[in-house]
Amino acid sequence: MTETFTVTVEPLGTELTCRADQSVLDACLRNGVWLPHACTHGTCGTCKAEVLDGEVDFGDASPYALVDSDRDDGYALMCVATPKEDIVIEGDVELEEGIEIYPVRDFTGTIAILDEAAPNVKRMVIDLDEPMDFNPGQYVQLNMPDGDDRPYSIASSPSEPSRIELHIKRSEGGAATDGWIFKDLNAGDPISLSGPYGQFFFHPAKDKPLILLGSGTGLAPLKSILRHVAELDDEGEWEHEVVLFHGVATGDDLYEHEWLSEFADDREWFTYQPAVSREEFDGRQGRVPVLLTEDFPRAGGNSAYICGNPAMVEDTMKALMQARLFPRDIYREDFFDSADRAAGGHVVRSPLIKR
Ligand SMILES: Cc1cc2nc3c(=O)[nH]c(=O)nc-3n(C[C@H](O)[C@H](O)[C@H](O)COP(=O)(O)OP(=O)(O)OC[C@H]3O[C@@H](n4cnc5c(N)ncnc54)[C@H](O)[C@@H]3O)c2cc1C
Ligand code: FES
Repeated sequence: MTETFTVTVEPLGTELTCRADQSVLDACLRNGVWLPHACTHGTCGTCKAEVLDGEVDFGDASPYALVDSDRDDGYALMCVATPKEDIVIEGDVELEEGIEIYPVRDFTGTIAILDEAAPNVKRMVIDLDEPMDFNPGQYVQLNMPDGDDRPYSIASSPSEPSRIELHIKRSEGGAATDGWIFKDLNAGDPISLSGPYGQFFFHPAKDKPLILLGSGTGLAPLKSILRHVAELDDEGEWEHEVVLFHGVATGDDLYEHEWLSEFADDREWFTYQPAVSREEFDGRQGRVPVLLTEDFPRAGGNSAYICGNPAMVEDTMKALMQARLFPRDIYREDFFDSADRAAGGHVVRSPLIKR
């Protein structure tokens, strides 16, 4: 049997059990103790925390996200660090008002739908054997046959906790996509996953107009947020404008186009801005940060949610800050993959931004 250790999380003083082969973050999230995290694969640095007592194995931490001086100062990345003995950590455990956190659990289910949303993008709908509570914008980790896992954002609304929708882009030579999901999986197959993860979720307490900005399958968590907001609207609890920029390379890559166009016709508070960057298009052309700058020379007073490949997220972040949107009103989800991890990720950020 694998050895276990006690992790004490300060300032709460909460004690929990962590296996020697389990990340400290995983043990905390499964025990309902919130710690900041985003990529859960040692790339972004969001989960960096101080080990006040005891020793950890630093795991597969990116040398860019956890530099040598961090290690010397007693910091570790909780998503990849495992305990070597009983430890005490200092966690940034504070959560914004109005956010309920759901403990991470393991789930099994069946693939109900696996169809092509766009060339190289699959829409996977999973019927879960048990419902999963989550916040709109969070993600799950699909368990791969080789024991590894991959994060995918949930595109469906939390109001459908037993049926989740994912949007998955094929990555050439990618272990999960090319080597498994696009090659072997079919509707009717069993699948296992864990969740919910992440802190890229809708913040109701902000009570402001929304700017949603996604590239490629970065649309997924934004769709979840949008569906949730539409449900608030149905209950008479939403009174703000929402604009969605969806950036893709070609017109064919523009998936959910019909649904979003109809949604924009139905809801007067919603504006849909597809952005095609690499070919002529019957609509606006250009990358998301450029269209954003054209439409929002001043973005103050909004909340912004950016999601997609790390380069797009970083450029859009800069465009929003140049448009005078405060970092505290900007949320980001970087779709890091193995190549980003090997390159050290894109973790260079404004010192004002913790997420
Ligand atoms: C929080 C989060 C949420 C995400 N949500 C989504 C989502 O909703 N939809 C979505 O499509 N994706 C999402 N992603 C990305 C997704 O998790 C995977 O990274 C992506 O699907 C690629 O996985 P893969 O196993 O197919 O490719 P990987 O095996 O990770 O490889 C990716 C690319 O890197 C190359 N590569 C592999 N290893 C190396 C190496 N050592 N050095 C250099 N290159 C290498 C591969 O050839 C391939 O081209 C998310 C990521 C994060 C962090
Ligand atoms: S969540 Fe740990 S490094 Fe990204």
